[in-house]
Amino acid sequence: MSDQKFVNLTIEGRQVSVPEGTTILEAAKTAGVLIPHYCYHSGLKIAGVCRMCLVEVEKQPKLAPSCATTVAEGQVVNVYTQKALDARKGVLELLLINHPLDCPICDQAGECELQDYTFQEGRADSRYREPKRFNPAEDFGGDVLYVTNRCILCTRCVRYMGDVAGDRALCVEERGDRAHIGIAPDHDLSHPWAANVVDLCPVGALVSKDFLNKARAWELDRTASVCPNCSQGCNITLETRDEAVVRMKPRSNDAVNHFYLCDEGRLNYQWINRDDRLETPMVTGKPASWDAALAAAGAALKGGSAHVVAGASLSNEALWLLKQAAGVGKFRVAKGGEAPLPGVKDLALRADRAANATGAELMGFSRADNPLATAGKIVLIAGDDCTDLDTSALAGASTVIAICTVIPKGLPANSILLPIANFAEEEGTFTNLRGRVQRFLQARPAQGLARPSWMALAGLAAAAGKNGAFLSAEAVFIAMAKTESAFNGMSYDSVGLKGQMAAGAGVTA
Ligand code: FES
Repeated sequence: MSDQKFVNLTIEGRQVSVPEGTTILEAAKTAGVLIPHYCYHSGLKIAGVCRMCLVEVEKQPKLAPSCATTVAEGQVVNVYTQKALDARKGVLELLLINHPLDCPICDQAGECELQDYTFQEGRADSRYREPKRFNPAEDFGGDVLYVTNRCILCTRCVRYMGDVAGDRALCVEERGDRAHIGIAPDHDLSHPWAANVVDLCPVGALVSKDFLNKARAWELDRTASVCPNCSQGCNITLETRDEAVVRMKPRSNDAVNHFYLCDEGRLNYQWINRDDRLETPMVTGKPASWDAALAAAGAALKGGSAHVVAGASLSNEALWLLKQAAGVGKFRVAKGGEAPLPGVKDLALRADRAANATGAELMGFSRADNPLATAGKIVLIAGDDCTDLDTSALAGASTVIAICTVIPKGLPANSILLPIANFAEEEGTFTNLRGRVQRFLQARPAQGLARPSWMALAGLAAAAGKNGAFLSAEAVFIAMAKTESAFNGMSYDSVGLKGQMAAGAGVTA
């Protein structure tokens, strides 16, 4: 039994009961009241520097900063009294004195808390008539540009770099109206997790160089997904404009990545939009219908056992269907350096640069540096991107079936090619290195005649005389959960958008 004490209080007329030590701002969230704030972020140490979160507490003569004031029994908190509104309006007026009001050309417009709170509570005009302060924008290194004139000095970026990234690269330089964020001598924002300061900045002061002038926030469609670039499985939002992915942002999940995403994962998305895709089935170098290509591939699989090579970025659903169609085989994982985020336990850019190596292992596939080295007569390659495979061993194969997004180099002319969608073009699940099964949703349409990987492999299983009667990725997952012990009892509902641990899964890399 927990001996945690709870405190009862009233916020905007609503009764709430929260653990002792909770701040008024966090308690208000549980009551459905969002108190305006800038410097406060639940992933960072409290600074209490912006005063945007002032509220009125009954029987207290002064307004209280709700981010830095803990709840007390019987407290009555009012967020929208005239006194509190006037104070916050004054804070906004001062923050905007030197602000350039350049929303029409600011990347943050549409997702800017300075815009939002000014619209909600600020003045309709400015009383400031003097010339505004001007400082040039500064390249902070990495993916980060600092637009000094928009900065409200909330210091979220300074605290993140020092306390979470473990690199005291940023500080507040100068004082008074000359104050701005500065870079410490011999530092820049090339830290592998530095670009999180762009997400943490509540205004348009720290912006991504990669995303600069690409799209307005309101033009973007947003889809819940999982970063495909390493085995950590950070939760992300894929942001698309005109069906192209233009930005990847972290989606918070305390069990995996909290609020963060590494720079390598964040910026490695251009391949999703590549236009040199395999878009139509091919048989012996000629375009073919899906029915004809599947019939040819199924006949080959019926002719003998295949040497199976899987991609470690295939979904669990696709890997399971591959196993049904032709049995388990080998897979290769690209490797890179590890880069932990020191302030968050168990969060790192992982050496395995693929999303689903653990899923492949749970399914019975085994790792190999060169999985085609011992290829036999019938070879089945299935993977998102198979272009880094050494195909020189395929010269002696009688039939090669390649199920992929782009055509692997060096395939024999008599190969059967089946085009599939990449992870952003279909739904499915990945299993991260801790064994957490996580869903990703479809963010853009598949290209040409490409089919979702589960659909292509279900067709192949049926053509090979196995059970391939599935009408959705979810139907495949349900069947997989019945037969694979690691997934027993799981469903898309139980996995949800925050994931669920696979049974008996452990650290594998
Ligand atoms: S959010 Fe409370 S002082 Fe800044």
